[in-house]
Amino acid sequence: MTNKMKHKLYNIVAILFFSFYVSAQQNSLPLIPQPKSLVLTNGNFNLTSSTKIVVTAQSAKNEIAYFNAYLKTHYGFVLDVVYKIPEKDNYIIFKFPDWEAGLKENYHLNIQESAISITAESGGAGNFYAIQSLIQLLPIEKTNTLVIPCLQIKDTPLMKWRGMHLDVCRHFFSIDFIKKYIDLLALYKMNTFHWHLTDDQGWRIEIKKYPKLTQVGAWRKGTMIGAYSNQEFDTIKYGGYYTQEQIKEVVAYAAQRHITIVPEIEMPGHAVAAISAYPFLSCDEKQIDVERGWGVFENVFCTKDTVFNFLENVLSEVMNLFPGTYIHIGGDECPKTKWKTCKHCQLRIKTEKLKDEHELQSYFITRIEKFVNSKGRQIIGWDEILEGGLAPNAAVMSWRGTEGGINAAKQKHNAVMSPGTHCYFDHFQGDPIDEPLAFGGYTPLQKVYSFNPVPTELNDSEKKYILGAQANIWTEYILNEKHVEYMANPRMAALSEVLWSPNENRNQSNFIARLQKHFLLLDKLHYNYSKALYNVEQVPTASNTHQAIQLELKADSVLGNIYYTSDGSEPSIKSTPYTKAITISKNTTIKAALFKDNEQLGKVSQRYYDINLATNKSIALATPPNSSYNYGGAFTLINGVVASLPRTNNQWLGWSGKNLEAVIDLKQPEEIKTISVGFLKEEVNWIYLPKDAEVFISNDGQKFSSVGKMKLNNERFMEIIINPTKTRYVKIVANYYGLIPQGNPGAGSPAWLFCDEIQIK
Ligand code: ACM
Ligand code: ZN
Repeated sequence: MTNKMKHKLYNIVAILFFSFYVSAQQNSLPLIPQPKSLVLTNGNFNLTSSTKIVVTAQSAKNEIAYFNAYLKTHYGFVLDVVYKIPEKDNYIIFKFPDWEAGLKENYHLNIQESAISITAESGGAGNFYAIQSLIQLLPIEKTNTLVIPCLQIKDTPLMKWRGMHLDVCRHFFSIDFIKKYIDLLALYKMNTFHWHLTDDQGWRIEIKKYPKLTQVGAWRKGTMIGAYSNQEFDTIKYGGYYTQEQIKEVVAYAAQRHITIVPEIEMPGHAVAAISAYPFLSCDEKQIDVERGWGVFENVFCTKDTVFNFLENVLSEVMNLFPGTYIHIGGDECPKTKWKTCKHCQLRIKTEKLKDEHELQSYFITRIEKFVNSKGRQIIGWDEILEGGLAPNAAVMSWRGTEGGINAAKQKHNAVMSPGTHCYFDHFQGDPIDEPLAFGGYTPLQKVYSFNPVPTELNDSEKKYILGAQANIWTEYILNEKHVEYMANPRMAALSEVLWSPNENRNQSNFIARLQKHFLLLDKLHYNYSKALYNVEQVPTASNTHQAIQLELKADSVLGNIYYTSDGSEPSIKSTPYTKAITISKNTTIKAALFKDNEQLGKVSQRYYDINLATNKSIALATPPNSSYNYGGAFTLINGVVASLPRTNNQWLGWSGKNLEAVIDLKQPEEIKTISVGFLKEEVNWIYLPKDAEVFISNDGQKFSSVGKMKLNNERFMEIIINPTKTRYVKIVANYYGLIPQGNPGAGSPAWLFCDEIQIK
């Protein structure tokens, strides 16, 4: 090797080492979302009460006030503002950018030992985001000298719409809490707050022209308690609303934090609270009560002119309060039952030459859009507004998956992604056994972090219609403010990084390492958050030997190490360390937990595996499940796990109006005696036990003969016990219930069939 080569090699090694060093150090900075570009340099800046803030021409008055208020609250001092660079070092200076105007969210933050400089557009959000990054870099402890590491950040967000939603109708939250929630959004550089202000269970915004909306519509006579399937209610009067003065205050508060509030006034569905105040708004004009329970209700806004007149008056007041471009008009979950028999609605269909009630919904939204557009604003609505034709300028909020957003973008309409799979923060974020009652789905932190809001199906010109994404917090099962925070944190942190940081900067372990430090900041700011991240997830997987299942235990390795037991004892660091998938070939309870330096971090995860003749054999389904309820595919039915209740969708397969027909190949003739299959009974959610179920056997997989019908042997297992018989193939046919009977939720629609496990013994 020549000297030159050696020198080159030395340089490469040095660069590699340096990059490693820098990225290792970056890991230690509790910055979320991760900046686009971050270079750590040497030394520290010492911020004390004698540090000056220098204002020259750049206007960041608002940000300076915000920063000083933060310092005052958390460290007990404020900084003097001066108008020329002081002779002595140690100041924070706001500078004009050298980039072309228009990148209002852009900022550079340069921290040197002598001074901190913030470069952003005058009055732009970039100044605010620089302050937020600076705040995240401050030490947690209250001291007189705040030591901040020297570095250079050049930062800009990936997406334009970085949103969080909050439902204040199912449960009501104080103005003080709304401000605290907005502060949380600000911490994560989110820029949109979607305020869900009206629904069946309460109207929450004062409208001067229609005082009964809040006098009557803001109050219900009781509230559903516990799980939806229990259908239990209390009789305590519940409600509340925001005055227009309070709303103006919140709008100004959000604006100071560069957050736009998108108000949502639901129409034509979710209108019961409005109708309870003004019965003329419905088709049959009957007096009804504000809803006490959750769901989708048949009383919706009628399509007669008096209703449009009312809505235009309401929207006029709303637009006077909220200066942002977008007004959310709902549009989701509008049953057409009442419209079908209403003379006004039927006349409307005729005179407007509409095909059916779906086109009537489209007429409704388009007419409202025209009005909103006439005031210089735009509408956004849930993806149902695509049905029957999209209003000409509407933006779509895609919640039933990302298809609605894709469809909108292909039609050259703006879209915001908010799919249930990744963005519904009312879903469970950990094993339901350990979590407070939630809406149902399973959306852990890691799932949120893996979200890609810009679907790969779209071409480059279509992609630009995807404005961004937001997470929704529906509050049916969220009774108080601490619980809202618990559902938001830390999933909002993950979403903020998805929406802000370039994909190539995203790394889950690195995020989790930063998040752990960031938890200290949430503690300091008195925000509640979930620690489900510290629990071990048990994921059974198929092995191709068909002998047993392979059990993967999951937790991010930056947190610590997993130890587990299979003898029923509690795990400790003396238990078996988890290194690779565990082979489970007989009935076993696995208990696992995460440990760091002797200390157990989260809860013990415990699950029983029932290993029977069906477990991990081959299974073929004649009809695939509905794509929304197909987690893990057919293997879910033979993975050894009987689902826990309440339902989370990662342990069930579901079919709408279809039968289950499963053939299990036992791989060799086996003596079988008992066949049992788990089904779900959740009739309020349209999920019914099968009408009947039958078992067939075969030795060749071609010709099957019946061994008889199954019987319900407890609340949800269908079972049959036969004389011991040798067979290789077992077929189960479970016929779905049929149409849902009158008087029940979903009456007249086909019932759903949900299955969690098939056991053959
Ligand atoms: C929705 O979750 N109904 C938009
Ligand atoms: Zn009507």
